[in-house]
Amino acid sequence: MSEQKSSVDNAIAALNDLKVEIEETALSTSQGVDDYRIRFLSRKQGQITALLKRIPEVAPEDRKKFGQEINAAKARVVARIEEATGELSDESDASSGQVDLTLPGRAMAQGSLHPITQAQRLITRVFENYGFEVAEGPEIEDDWHNFSALNFPPDHPARDMQDTFFIEPPGEEHGGILLRTHTSPVQIRIMENREPPIRVIVPGRVYRNEAISYKSYCLFHQVEGLYVDEGVTMADLKQILHAFARTLFGEDVKMRFRPSFFPFTEPSAEVDIWWKDDALPGGGRWMEIMGTGMVDPNVLEGVGIDSERYTGYAFGMGIERIAMLRYGIDDIRILYENDNRFLKQFS
Ligand code: DAH
Repeated sequence: MSEQKSSVDNAIAALNDLKVEIEETALSTSQGVDDYRIRFLSRKQGQITALLKRIPEVAPEDRKKFGQEINAAKARVVARIEEATGELSDESDASSGQVDLTLPGRAMAQGSLHPITQAQRLITRVFENYGFEVAEGPEIEDDWHNFSALNFPPDHPARDMQDTFFIEPPGEEHGGILLRTHTSPVQIRIMENREPPIRVIVPGRVYRNEAISYKSYCLFHQVEGLYVDEGVTMADLKQILHAFARTLFGEDVKMRFRPSFFPFTEPSAEVDIWWKDDALPGGGRWMEIMGTGMVDPNVLEGVGIDSERYTGYAFGMGIERIAMLRYGIDDIRILYENDNRFLKQFS
């Protein structure tokens, strides 16, 4: 135990030393810059690689932070090299009045996928592995698909102007054209056009007219799942969601179904996972990751599917929420600011 503790401290001390060296090494000649690059960034012997190999020494709950700090240190090395290279070439241009064509080219920074895209792909891939196909639907919806066909009563508060962005308000000829408030309307579009068995996963962007804060934004992303066939049960639902949670949050993930209500499912549940956090009393807390349930027979009948013969389950989850849990992000707004210092950490 004490041996483990001291190796943890060593890894953290090594990181701290590295940060100092990264900042303090002088970069006044191009040879110096080359040596600096090799010393820190060499894939085989570089000090960044060496430190990445030490992640297992760090306590599991600190690993993410440790890894992020290494990435930040690496970004500093790259930034200092770029800056020094720029200065050195300015100097040589200025002194000789010429460009040195023998200088190595400046590497273009490589882009990376946005963390939301990464999380979305991860989520859809899990379900693709279970035979779900990926489908999409329109972001501009009508009241029928977004609400009525999903069994929302006419006076449901979600239809209120406060929550829904209307493009055309409800009128004589239609119940309103709006920005979809969830991906569930795609369930209806798919069931209207197909016969069971249906097994789809639907990622997409949704919009809500909510006060913007660290935990909500006027747009976000969801992934919807739908499975309709003969003999689909709640046991099937639990099995697949548990498999999903294990893939995303680890083999020993603790998950629970909590009774809830959605107009389009009966019974309905919310799924929580146990989020370990030693700083909290009790060592963690339950965090909601999705809504789910058995498709309400009214919904099936509304799209012409025989609810005596077929049953189904559905679920829907917020991608931002899952990305925030996985990557330890505590403010949703940062996902929409396109700040390169943030995005770089996901390459
Ligand atoms: N559409 C719900 C929401 O936006 C989430 C949801 C709950 C989707 C239950 C489902 C479901 O498919 O069965 O919050």
